[in-house]
Amino acid sequence: MNEQIVILDFGSQYTQVIARRIRECKVYSTIIHYNTPASVIAEMNPAGIILSGGPSSVYAKDAPLPDRAVFDLDLPVLGVCFGLQLMAKFLNGKVERGQKREYGKGTLRVKKTQCRLFDGLPRELQVWNSHGDKLTRLPDDFKAVATTENSGFAAIENAKARFYGLQFHPEVAHTPKGKKIISNFVRKICGCGRKWTMRNYIDQAVDEIRAKAGKEKVILGLSGGVDSSVAAALIHKAIGKQLTCIFVNNGVLRANEASVVKKVFAGNFKVKLHYEDAANLFMRKLRGVTDPETKRKIIGNTFIDVFQKATRKVGKARFLAQGTLYPDVIESVPIGGNPAALIKSHHNVGGLPEKMKFDLIEPLRCLFKDEVRQLGTELGLPMEIVMRQPFPGPGLAVRILGEVTPERCEILRNADTIVVEEMKLNNLYYKIWQSFAVLLPVRSVGVMGDERTYEYTIAVRAVESKDGMTADWVKLPYKVIETLSSRIINEVNGVNRVCLDVSSKPPATIEWE
Ligand code: XMP
Repeated sequence: MNEQIVILDFGSQYTQVIARRIRECKVYSTIIHYNTPASVIAEMNPAGIILSGGPSSVYAKDAPLPDRAVFDLDLPVLGVCFGLQLMAKFLNGKVERGQKREYGKGTLRVKKTQCRLFDGLPRELQVWNSHGDKLTRLPDDFKAVATTENSGFAAIENAKARFYGLQFHPEVAHTPKGKKIISNFVRKICGCGRKWTMRNYIDQAVDEIRAKAGKEKVILGLSGGVDSSVAAALIHKAIGKQLTCIFVNNGVLRANEASVVKKVFAGNFKVKLHYEDAANLFMRKLRGVTDPETKRKIIGNTFIDVFQKATRKVGKARFLAQGTLYPDVIESVPIGGNPAALIKSHHNVGGLPEKMKFDLIEPLRCLFKDEVRQLGTELGLPMEIVMRQPFPGPGLAVRILGEVTPERCEILRNADTIVVEEMKLNNLYYKIWQSFAVLLPVRSVGVMGDERTYEYTIAVRAVESKDGMTADWVKLPYKVIETLSSRIINEVNGVNRVCLDVSSKPPATIEWE
């Protein structure tokens, strides 16, 4: 059993960030629902508990409250923002509406105490605040260990009970030394070591996969994306030939997609790979369709049909493996309908019908994306796969506006290859979220040599983003834009104009559809 810290989630948009910071300290962390009974938490045998922030006021009618007995488990507890206010509510302190809402950067002044949270840190720290209510009376047996301009109780402790509270957010990047505070909590106060590493995780996951799969067959839909690729490599390490991967060519793949997957998985890893070429079928179904939603539905449904048939071809299997990640699994906390509490990925793929009677193997269920990339590297997958940019399930179809035809796919594929090549050559590809070409459904007049042309326009889109929910366009160097434009126009038949998309999300989306 892993040494772990449990985080009670009260609906803060930063709860997952706390979990990631802890894991960056090489300590496993789990996010659980705020009202998980203390007895259940005790069974999880954590080394410490963190109470997350949250959008409510502790005195609101529908405020999310933890089981009071979490304070009786004889475990270290760290309350962050709303979490600190909960400590006050339960341990006889007092919280009032602040005169002034404290939002944004502040300066923390650490008192001359021995508080271990601030071991090795300077007396003055930049911190990030986001709270309305504030602590006005310390809970019993607590003392203040740090202050800000606005609060005499910005950090508090009851060292004997090992209870700590922070009014600010140590997990966010705007608290530059925050990670050290979190590290002090998990290491010096909770006594955790550095056991959570992807190398250790491989051993544990391999054992678990073997125990679950027994002698049965497992199939996995390999898309060439990071998640399914890492899942495939991990499961293959555990059960070798019991795993069959199915790769479907849906006709809207990027150039080389299929050959890279074949080379890496069938070639290097010797994974049993079933390649199902359904490009013609997808193209037939997409003929004449221009509505974006209809295109998506056709691709989704056709994929399911093709995949189902392929599973029959490769022989009966009991298990289906998927590359589901932790953020898709965490139950979100819809407190008082607050939208911040509901921020979640809106493109959940997977989507295989329930009638496909498989038991699931999901070996990445407890991992964040950055951990999956580390795991992939540890398993020996090439950077080309592990660090690749996200690519949507419906593929190039969401980047071809209007009808998807083999000719248009070819044009976009050629332009896309140039974008990817140039971004890599200029050391930009792995630094940004996504960069790609879009084929617009307009043709315009141009001249080439002595002839007038009437051809398509390609839009180049390059965006920075943390999670795809919001994005900003990348200010590419002029030199790169120039090369992209001249190469696309010169090398891609059917294109005589290139534009750069300079819209952020919102209000635009990343894909054009
Ligand atoms: P939008 O266009 O909504 O995209 O700003 C946000 C992120 O999601 C990706 N995306 C998808 N991923 N299936 C996927 O697996 C899809 O249908 C899909 N649509 C968009 C998009 O590439 C971007 O990273």
